[in-house]
Amino acid sequence: METVAVIFGGRSVEHEVSVVTAIQAMENLDRDRFRPLPIYIAKDGVWYSHPEMISLVSFRRERLDMTLANAYRVHWDPVPGAPLTLEPPSGNERRGWFGKAKAKALEQVRVSAALLALHGTYGEDGSVQGFLELVGVPYSSAGVVGSAVGMDKIVMKSVFRGCGLPVVAYQWFTREAWLEQPEQVLDRLEAQLRYPLFVKPSNLGSSVGISKAQNREQLRASIEVAQHYDTRILVEEGVADAIEINVSVLGDELSARASVCERPLTWEQFLTYDDKYIRGNFNKSGGLARELPARLPEEVAARVQALAVEAFHAVQARGVVRVDFLLTPQFDVFINEINTIPGSLAFYLWEPQGMSYRDLLSELISIAQRSAARKARNQTDFGSDLLEHFQSGSKSSVKGGGSKGRPLV
Ligand SMILES: Nc1ncnc2c1ncn2[C@@H]1O[C@H](COP(=O)(O)OP(=O)(O)O)[C@@H](O)[C@H]1O
Ligand SMILES: [Mg+2]
Repeated sequence: METVAVIFGGRSVEHEVSVVTAIQAMENLDRDRFRPLPIYIAKDGVWYSHPEMISLVSFRRERLDMTLANAYRVHWDPVPGAPLTLEPPSGNERRGWFGKAKAKALEQVRVSAALLALHGTYGEDGSVQGFLELVGVPYSSAGVVGSAVGMDKIVMKSVFRGCGLPVVAYQWFTREAWLEQPEQVLDRLEAQLRYPLFVKPSNLGSSVGISKAQNREQLRASIEVAQHYDTRILVEEGVADAIEINVSVLGDELSARASVCERPLTWEQFLTYDDKYIRGNFNKSGGLARELPARLPEEVAARVQALAVEAFHAVQARGVVRVDFLLTPQFDVFINEINTIPGSLAFYLWEPQGMSYRDLLSELISIAQRSAARKARNQTDFGSDLLEHFQSGSKSSVKGGGSKGRPLV
């Protein structure tokens, strides 16, 4: 039996969505092979664990305080091979994690993989991935580079464009540029892009801070909103009457395949966070209603799927992603974004071709372990004798001291 850390929550506007993704995943994990260890990152960034964290009710508003008061604190040293340590709440007489009569003061757990159910900042963006690289635990998402590129809309667009993939025309600027010279920013945007324009903070998700502008005054208002959420703002041309198509891709850098296409069914062209997750037209999997597979001409679907796989490789993704497209009514195709940890891990896009959520999760864990094993073959120690010969003397060589100081390269 392998213990799999399922990490979720986090310091993100998509915190709640992440809880749902994680609970669904834990409900579907193959229990003959894997034991889920829920690791919940609270909104203040503290890591907790408790057996009851596999159930959604533990996270309802009226229960959350009690859940956290009873939870174990998770400590994990950023050292290769370190086990994680569970610290029971003080005065805790509960049964230990693995069924011992009483919780020991501290309990150590070795996990064989981490299943990442985090969405958005501090979780989908490479930060948790970087930590897991240090600990040496295989994890289910893209690596540090792929996660960071996929999370930053500006870098993502320039990588796609650099790889020859179709993206809409866009510009970007810093918050400082906006606050200092808003008219110049507006002039430049209007000279280079055509309305309608979409204004987006570079680094959020779930449509937070995003709005559409039809003219200069709306553009000004949109930027005012967006600049509260990030230091860099993306402005891009809108696709008129866009058909939204999403495709999942599963695999690693050696091989990856695309799922069927879905068309999320929206009654408006543009959904806000509240529309998506609160007022949304939810189906039984907790997501929006969708047309699945999307009714598209066969060659258009094939082109979208091929582009999705290219987008996956362009950002060096791994595991399961969802690539979102905007199509014109004439079926010109633009890649809008890649989500490197998609909501519900996009399991519903794999079911139509006969892959159960359970099998998807097992494959994600094996992709993670295979990839970590490949990386482990990289040499990290060069056996340098630099320190035997190098003389430091780095103190203030300018003011006469440290005459032996010299730059390394
Ligand atoms: N250039 C665009 N043209 C038309 N619609 C867009 C454009 N950009 C975004 N949208 C609409 O806004 C939604 C949210 O934008 P998106 O870039 O996907 O942000 P998020 O990361 O928050 O999901 C999209 O799903 C789409 O409906
Ligand atoms: Mg989106």
